[in-house]
Amino acid sequence: MSLAELAAAEGTPLYVYSSAAITARYRAIDHAFRGYPHAIHYALKANSTLGIVRLLRSLGAAADANSGGEIDVALRAGFIPEQIVFTGVGKTPSELAQAIDIGVKTINAESEGELDRIDCLARERGTRVRVALRVNPDVDARSHPHISTGLKVNKFGVPVDAVREICRRFVSREGLEFAGLHTHVGSQITDLEPLRRAAMTIVALARELKDDGITLDHLDIGGGLGVSYDGVKVPSPDEYAAAVLPIVRESGLTVILEPGRSVVGPAGVLVAQVVDVKDRPDGKSFVILDAGMTELMRPMLYGAFHRIEPVLCNASSDEIVADIVGPLCESSDTLGKDRRVKRPRPGDLFAILDAGAYGAVMASNYNRRPMPAEVLVDGAKWSVIRRRQTIDDLLALES
Ligand SMILES: Cc1ncc(COP(=O)(O)O)c(C=O)c1O
Repeated sequence: MSLAELAAAEGTPLYVYSSAAITARYRAIDHAFRGYPHAIHYALKANSTLGIVRLLRSLGAAADANSGGEIDVALRAGFIPEQIVFTGVGKTPSELAQAIDIGVKTINAESEGELDRIDCLARERGTRVRVALRVNPDVDARSHPHISTGLKVNKFGVPVDAVREICRRFVSREGLEFAGLHTHVGSQITDLEPLRRAAMTIVALARELKDDGITLDHLDIGGGLGVSYDGVKVPSPDEYAAAVLPIVRESGLTVILEPGRSVVGPAGVLVAQVVDVKDRPDGKSFVILDAGMTELMRPMLYGAFHRIEPVLCNASSDEIVADIVGPLCESSDTLGKDRRVKRPRPGDLFAILDAGAYGAVMASNYNRRPMPAEVLVDGAKWSVIRRRQTIDDLLALES
């Protein structure tokens, strides 16, 4: 499928996802964990466009939702409540009530306070809620600090040495059923050791809880497996499974995975058009695209690297070293620095690769820019799974 054709039909900036790539990536994870009881709860936060979530459901995934909104999207995509785990560091009382009322599979509880709130809401409703306490294993994910979540200075979960005591105190609460333990130490993890250590921590805790008479049914080891943004090899799902399964196997408990990025990240590109090319006094240039931080925030938020490739260039052979930037009035609005490219002309197209995760979901309307359209390609067919926003859409909320 030609990106140029899609851009001609739907305009730019345009997100384009590959159904075949998402399918292959999901199946690779499922295959890697075959032979051991597991459930893959796709993390909607990575990309929650309905068409993508529906595709994952059709492949057999379950769902990991991080807000009331993501629970709604999961339901509208066809998941049943028993397929949804609800995670999130600051779940509001109304989000907790929503999750309890529909009967999600498990709430991953972040704190004693949250266990208390869940218990109260459950008792008010005369029900019992399955919870998995989120453990902060104090493990360095060796990823970018902004996407590391497993150190004791991070806001997530409860410290390892508090888990046993908290469970002892809360296990007799009428509104709670301790179903599992949860951990998630960060995202874009390319070194398996932190993932192994986090798994070892919760397996050891599960053993201790068993000694205390608390029998769990699952261990949720979160997501986090990294993808290759720069072409350098990263651990495969098979290598990930080989690292964590021997540890989890010892517990005999079902393992829950919450992958996001590794399923959809490399399955999407952002197509943008060159608006202008400007030469700088120092000999470098700016290539100004019609996409920037409003469409893809990762480079500005985390200094993330994305390969940026020409789609169609009427390029001269003249090579330039350019900062590839967006149109927003922020100097941080830079998608790629010091990139060597053939000098493009206005109207040429570039594809920003591996933009399927944490791309469209983080888009904003800054500078009153309507959010881009999103297209899902399936073999020789394609469909618009999110139409381009209009100014009328934006203003419909205002008086
Ligand atoms: C609790 C939890 N689960 C799963 C994920 C998905 O992580 P990833 O997209 O890195 O697989 C995240 C994202 O950071 C998360 O916070």
